[in-house]
Amino acid sequence: MYKLVKIANDISWIGVNDFEKERFENYIPIPNGVSYNSYYIDDEKTCIIDTVDANTTSTFVQKLKEILNGRQLDYVVINHVEPDHSNGLHEVLKYYPAVKIIGNNKSLGMLKAFDSNFPVENFIAVKEGDEIDLGKHKLTFAMIPMVHWPESMVTYDKEDKILFSNDAFGGFGGVYGGIFDDEVDLSFYKSEMRKYYSNIIGKFGAQVVNAIKKLSKLEIKYICPAHGILWRKDIGKIISIYERWAKFEPETKGVVIIYGSMYGNTAKMAEIIGLQLRECGITDIRIYDSSKTDPADVISRIWKYKGLIIGSCAHNFAVYPKIVPILHKLENYGIKNKYFGIFGNMMWSGGGVKDLKEFAAKLPGLELVAEPVEAQGAPKEADIEKLKQIAIKMAEKLNADKISD
Ligand code: FEO
Repeated sequence: MYKLVKIANDISWIGVNDFEKERFENYIPIPNGVSYNSYYIDDEKTCIIDTVDANTTSTFVQKLKEILNGRQLDYVVINHVEPDHSNGLHEVLKYYPAVKIIGNNKSLGMLKAFDSNFPVENFIAVKEGDEIDLGKHKLTFAMIPMVHWPESMVTYDKEDKILFSNDAFGGFGGVYGGIFDDEVDLSFYKSEMRKYYSNIIGKFGAQVVNAIKKLSKLEIKYICPAHGILWRKDIGKIISIYERWAKFEPETKGVVIIYGSMYGNTAKMAEIIGLQLRECGITDIRIYDSSKTDPADVISRIWKYKGLIIGSCAHNFAVYPKIVPILHKLENYGIKNKYFGIFGNMMWSGGGVKDLKEFAAKLPGLELVAEPVEAQGAPKEADIEKLKQIAIKMAEKLNADKISD
């Protein structure tokens, strides 16, 4: 028997932790796992909110069967069709073929696209503000397009004032043990949530701001996302953190330095900048070797800090290959609200610094704090002075800023 995790009187968490998957969406490393949260509402009509990904479906269905204890499942709400939440539907339908599937017109198209045998006759399309009556619990629905896909929606339980928010407010990290924000090491989960936000939702900041505006009209006692821990202690705070991320607003004055270096000279340049930042009173500094740290972890840290400095050696007349995925993602996001610096190295052609300058020119939200520096081979005295200027100018900007937690 699985232990029930009660959220409220008639509502339980029946999610599953996934510690087997190496990479989320097959590219983001998740060493701390991820949970697929599903919720069961025990009422005159039975209902689950969202399902789980394919590799955890058998555990999920086992939990569902235990909690239903012979009852029929009347409804399954699909807040979001991405397979990490909808893959379990196939298995649910095997055991409960008459279950009504609640989604919206956009989600129906996607469900049919994923599965040509999708039972359309089971589907109920809801619109903004529609209500489904389970008995005591009345569920309403709000559309939050692009948080994270066009069909994304949230479900709100009027009885217990619970927002089932799907990807919104979700994070990586399994939820064994504590499940609520007041039962866990919050700094760990905040970092996992930032990693999820910055890598999965980050492009859609404007849509997140719109969604928050709409949802803030609801009285919310619990936010129950489809990944990670659940929120009940300080709902206002978590909403304001999320809004800050959506607006690309940094949390601290820190600086991320990310470099690509083949023979150590660009790495040396990064270290010179880091030491000078320290001299200028900056304490939160992270220096990453792009060949060692996964871009997803770098992106997450970039979200946290106001300062960003990228360095690259030249490789085939261009930027170093391991820097490319980071530039691609930042450009795709339209990253903004950053103080920015560029440095790099060359021997016979150049190209790294040139590409970084072109990258910066495409993103008006990156404020170049000092002239880019390109050394030939080992950085010389003149290069070192210019590298220090990047750090000094960056620190001047940061120290003049008012950024608070
Ligand atoms: Fe957790 Fe957009 O899926």
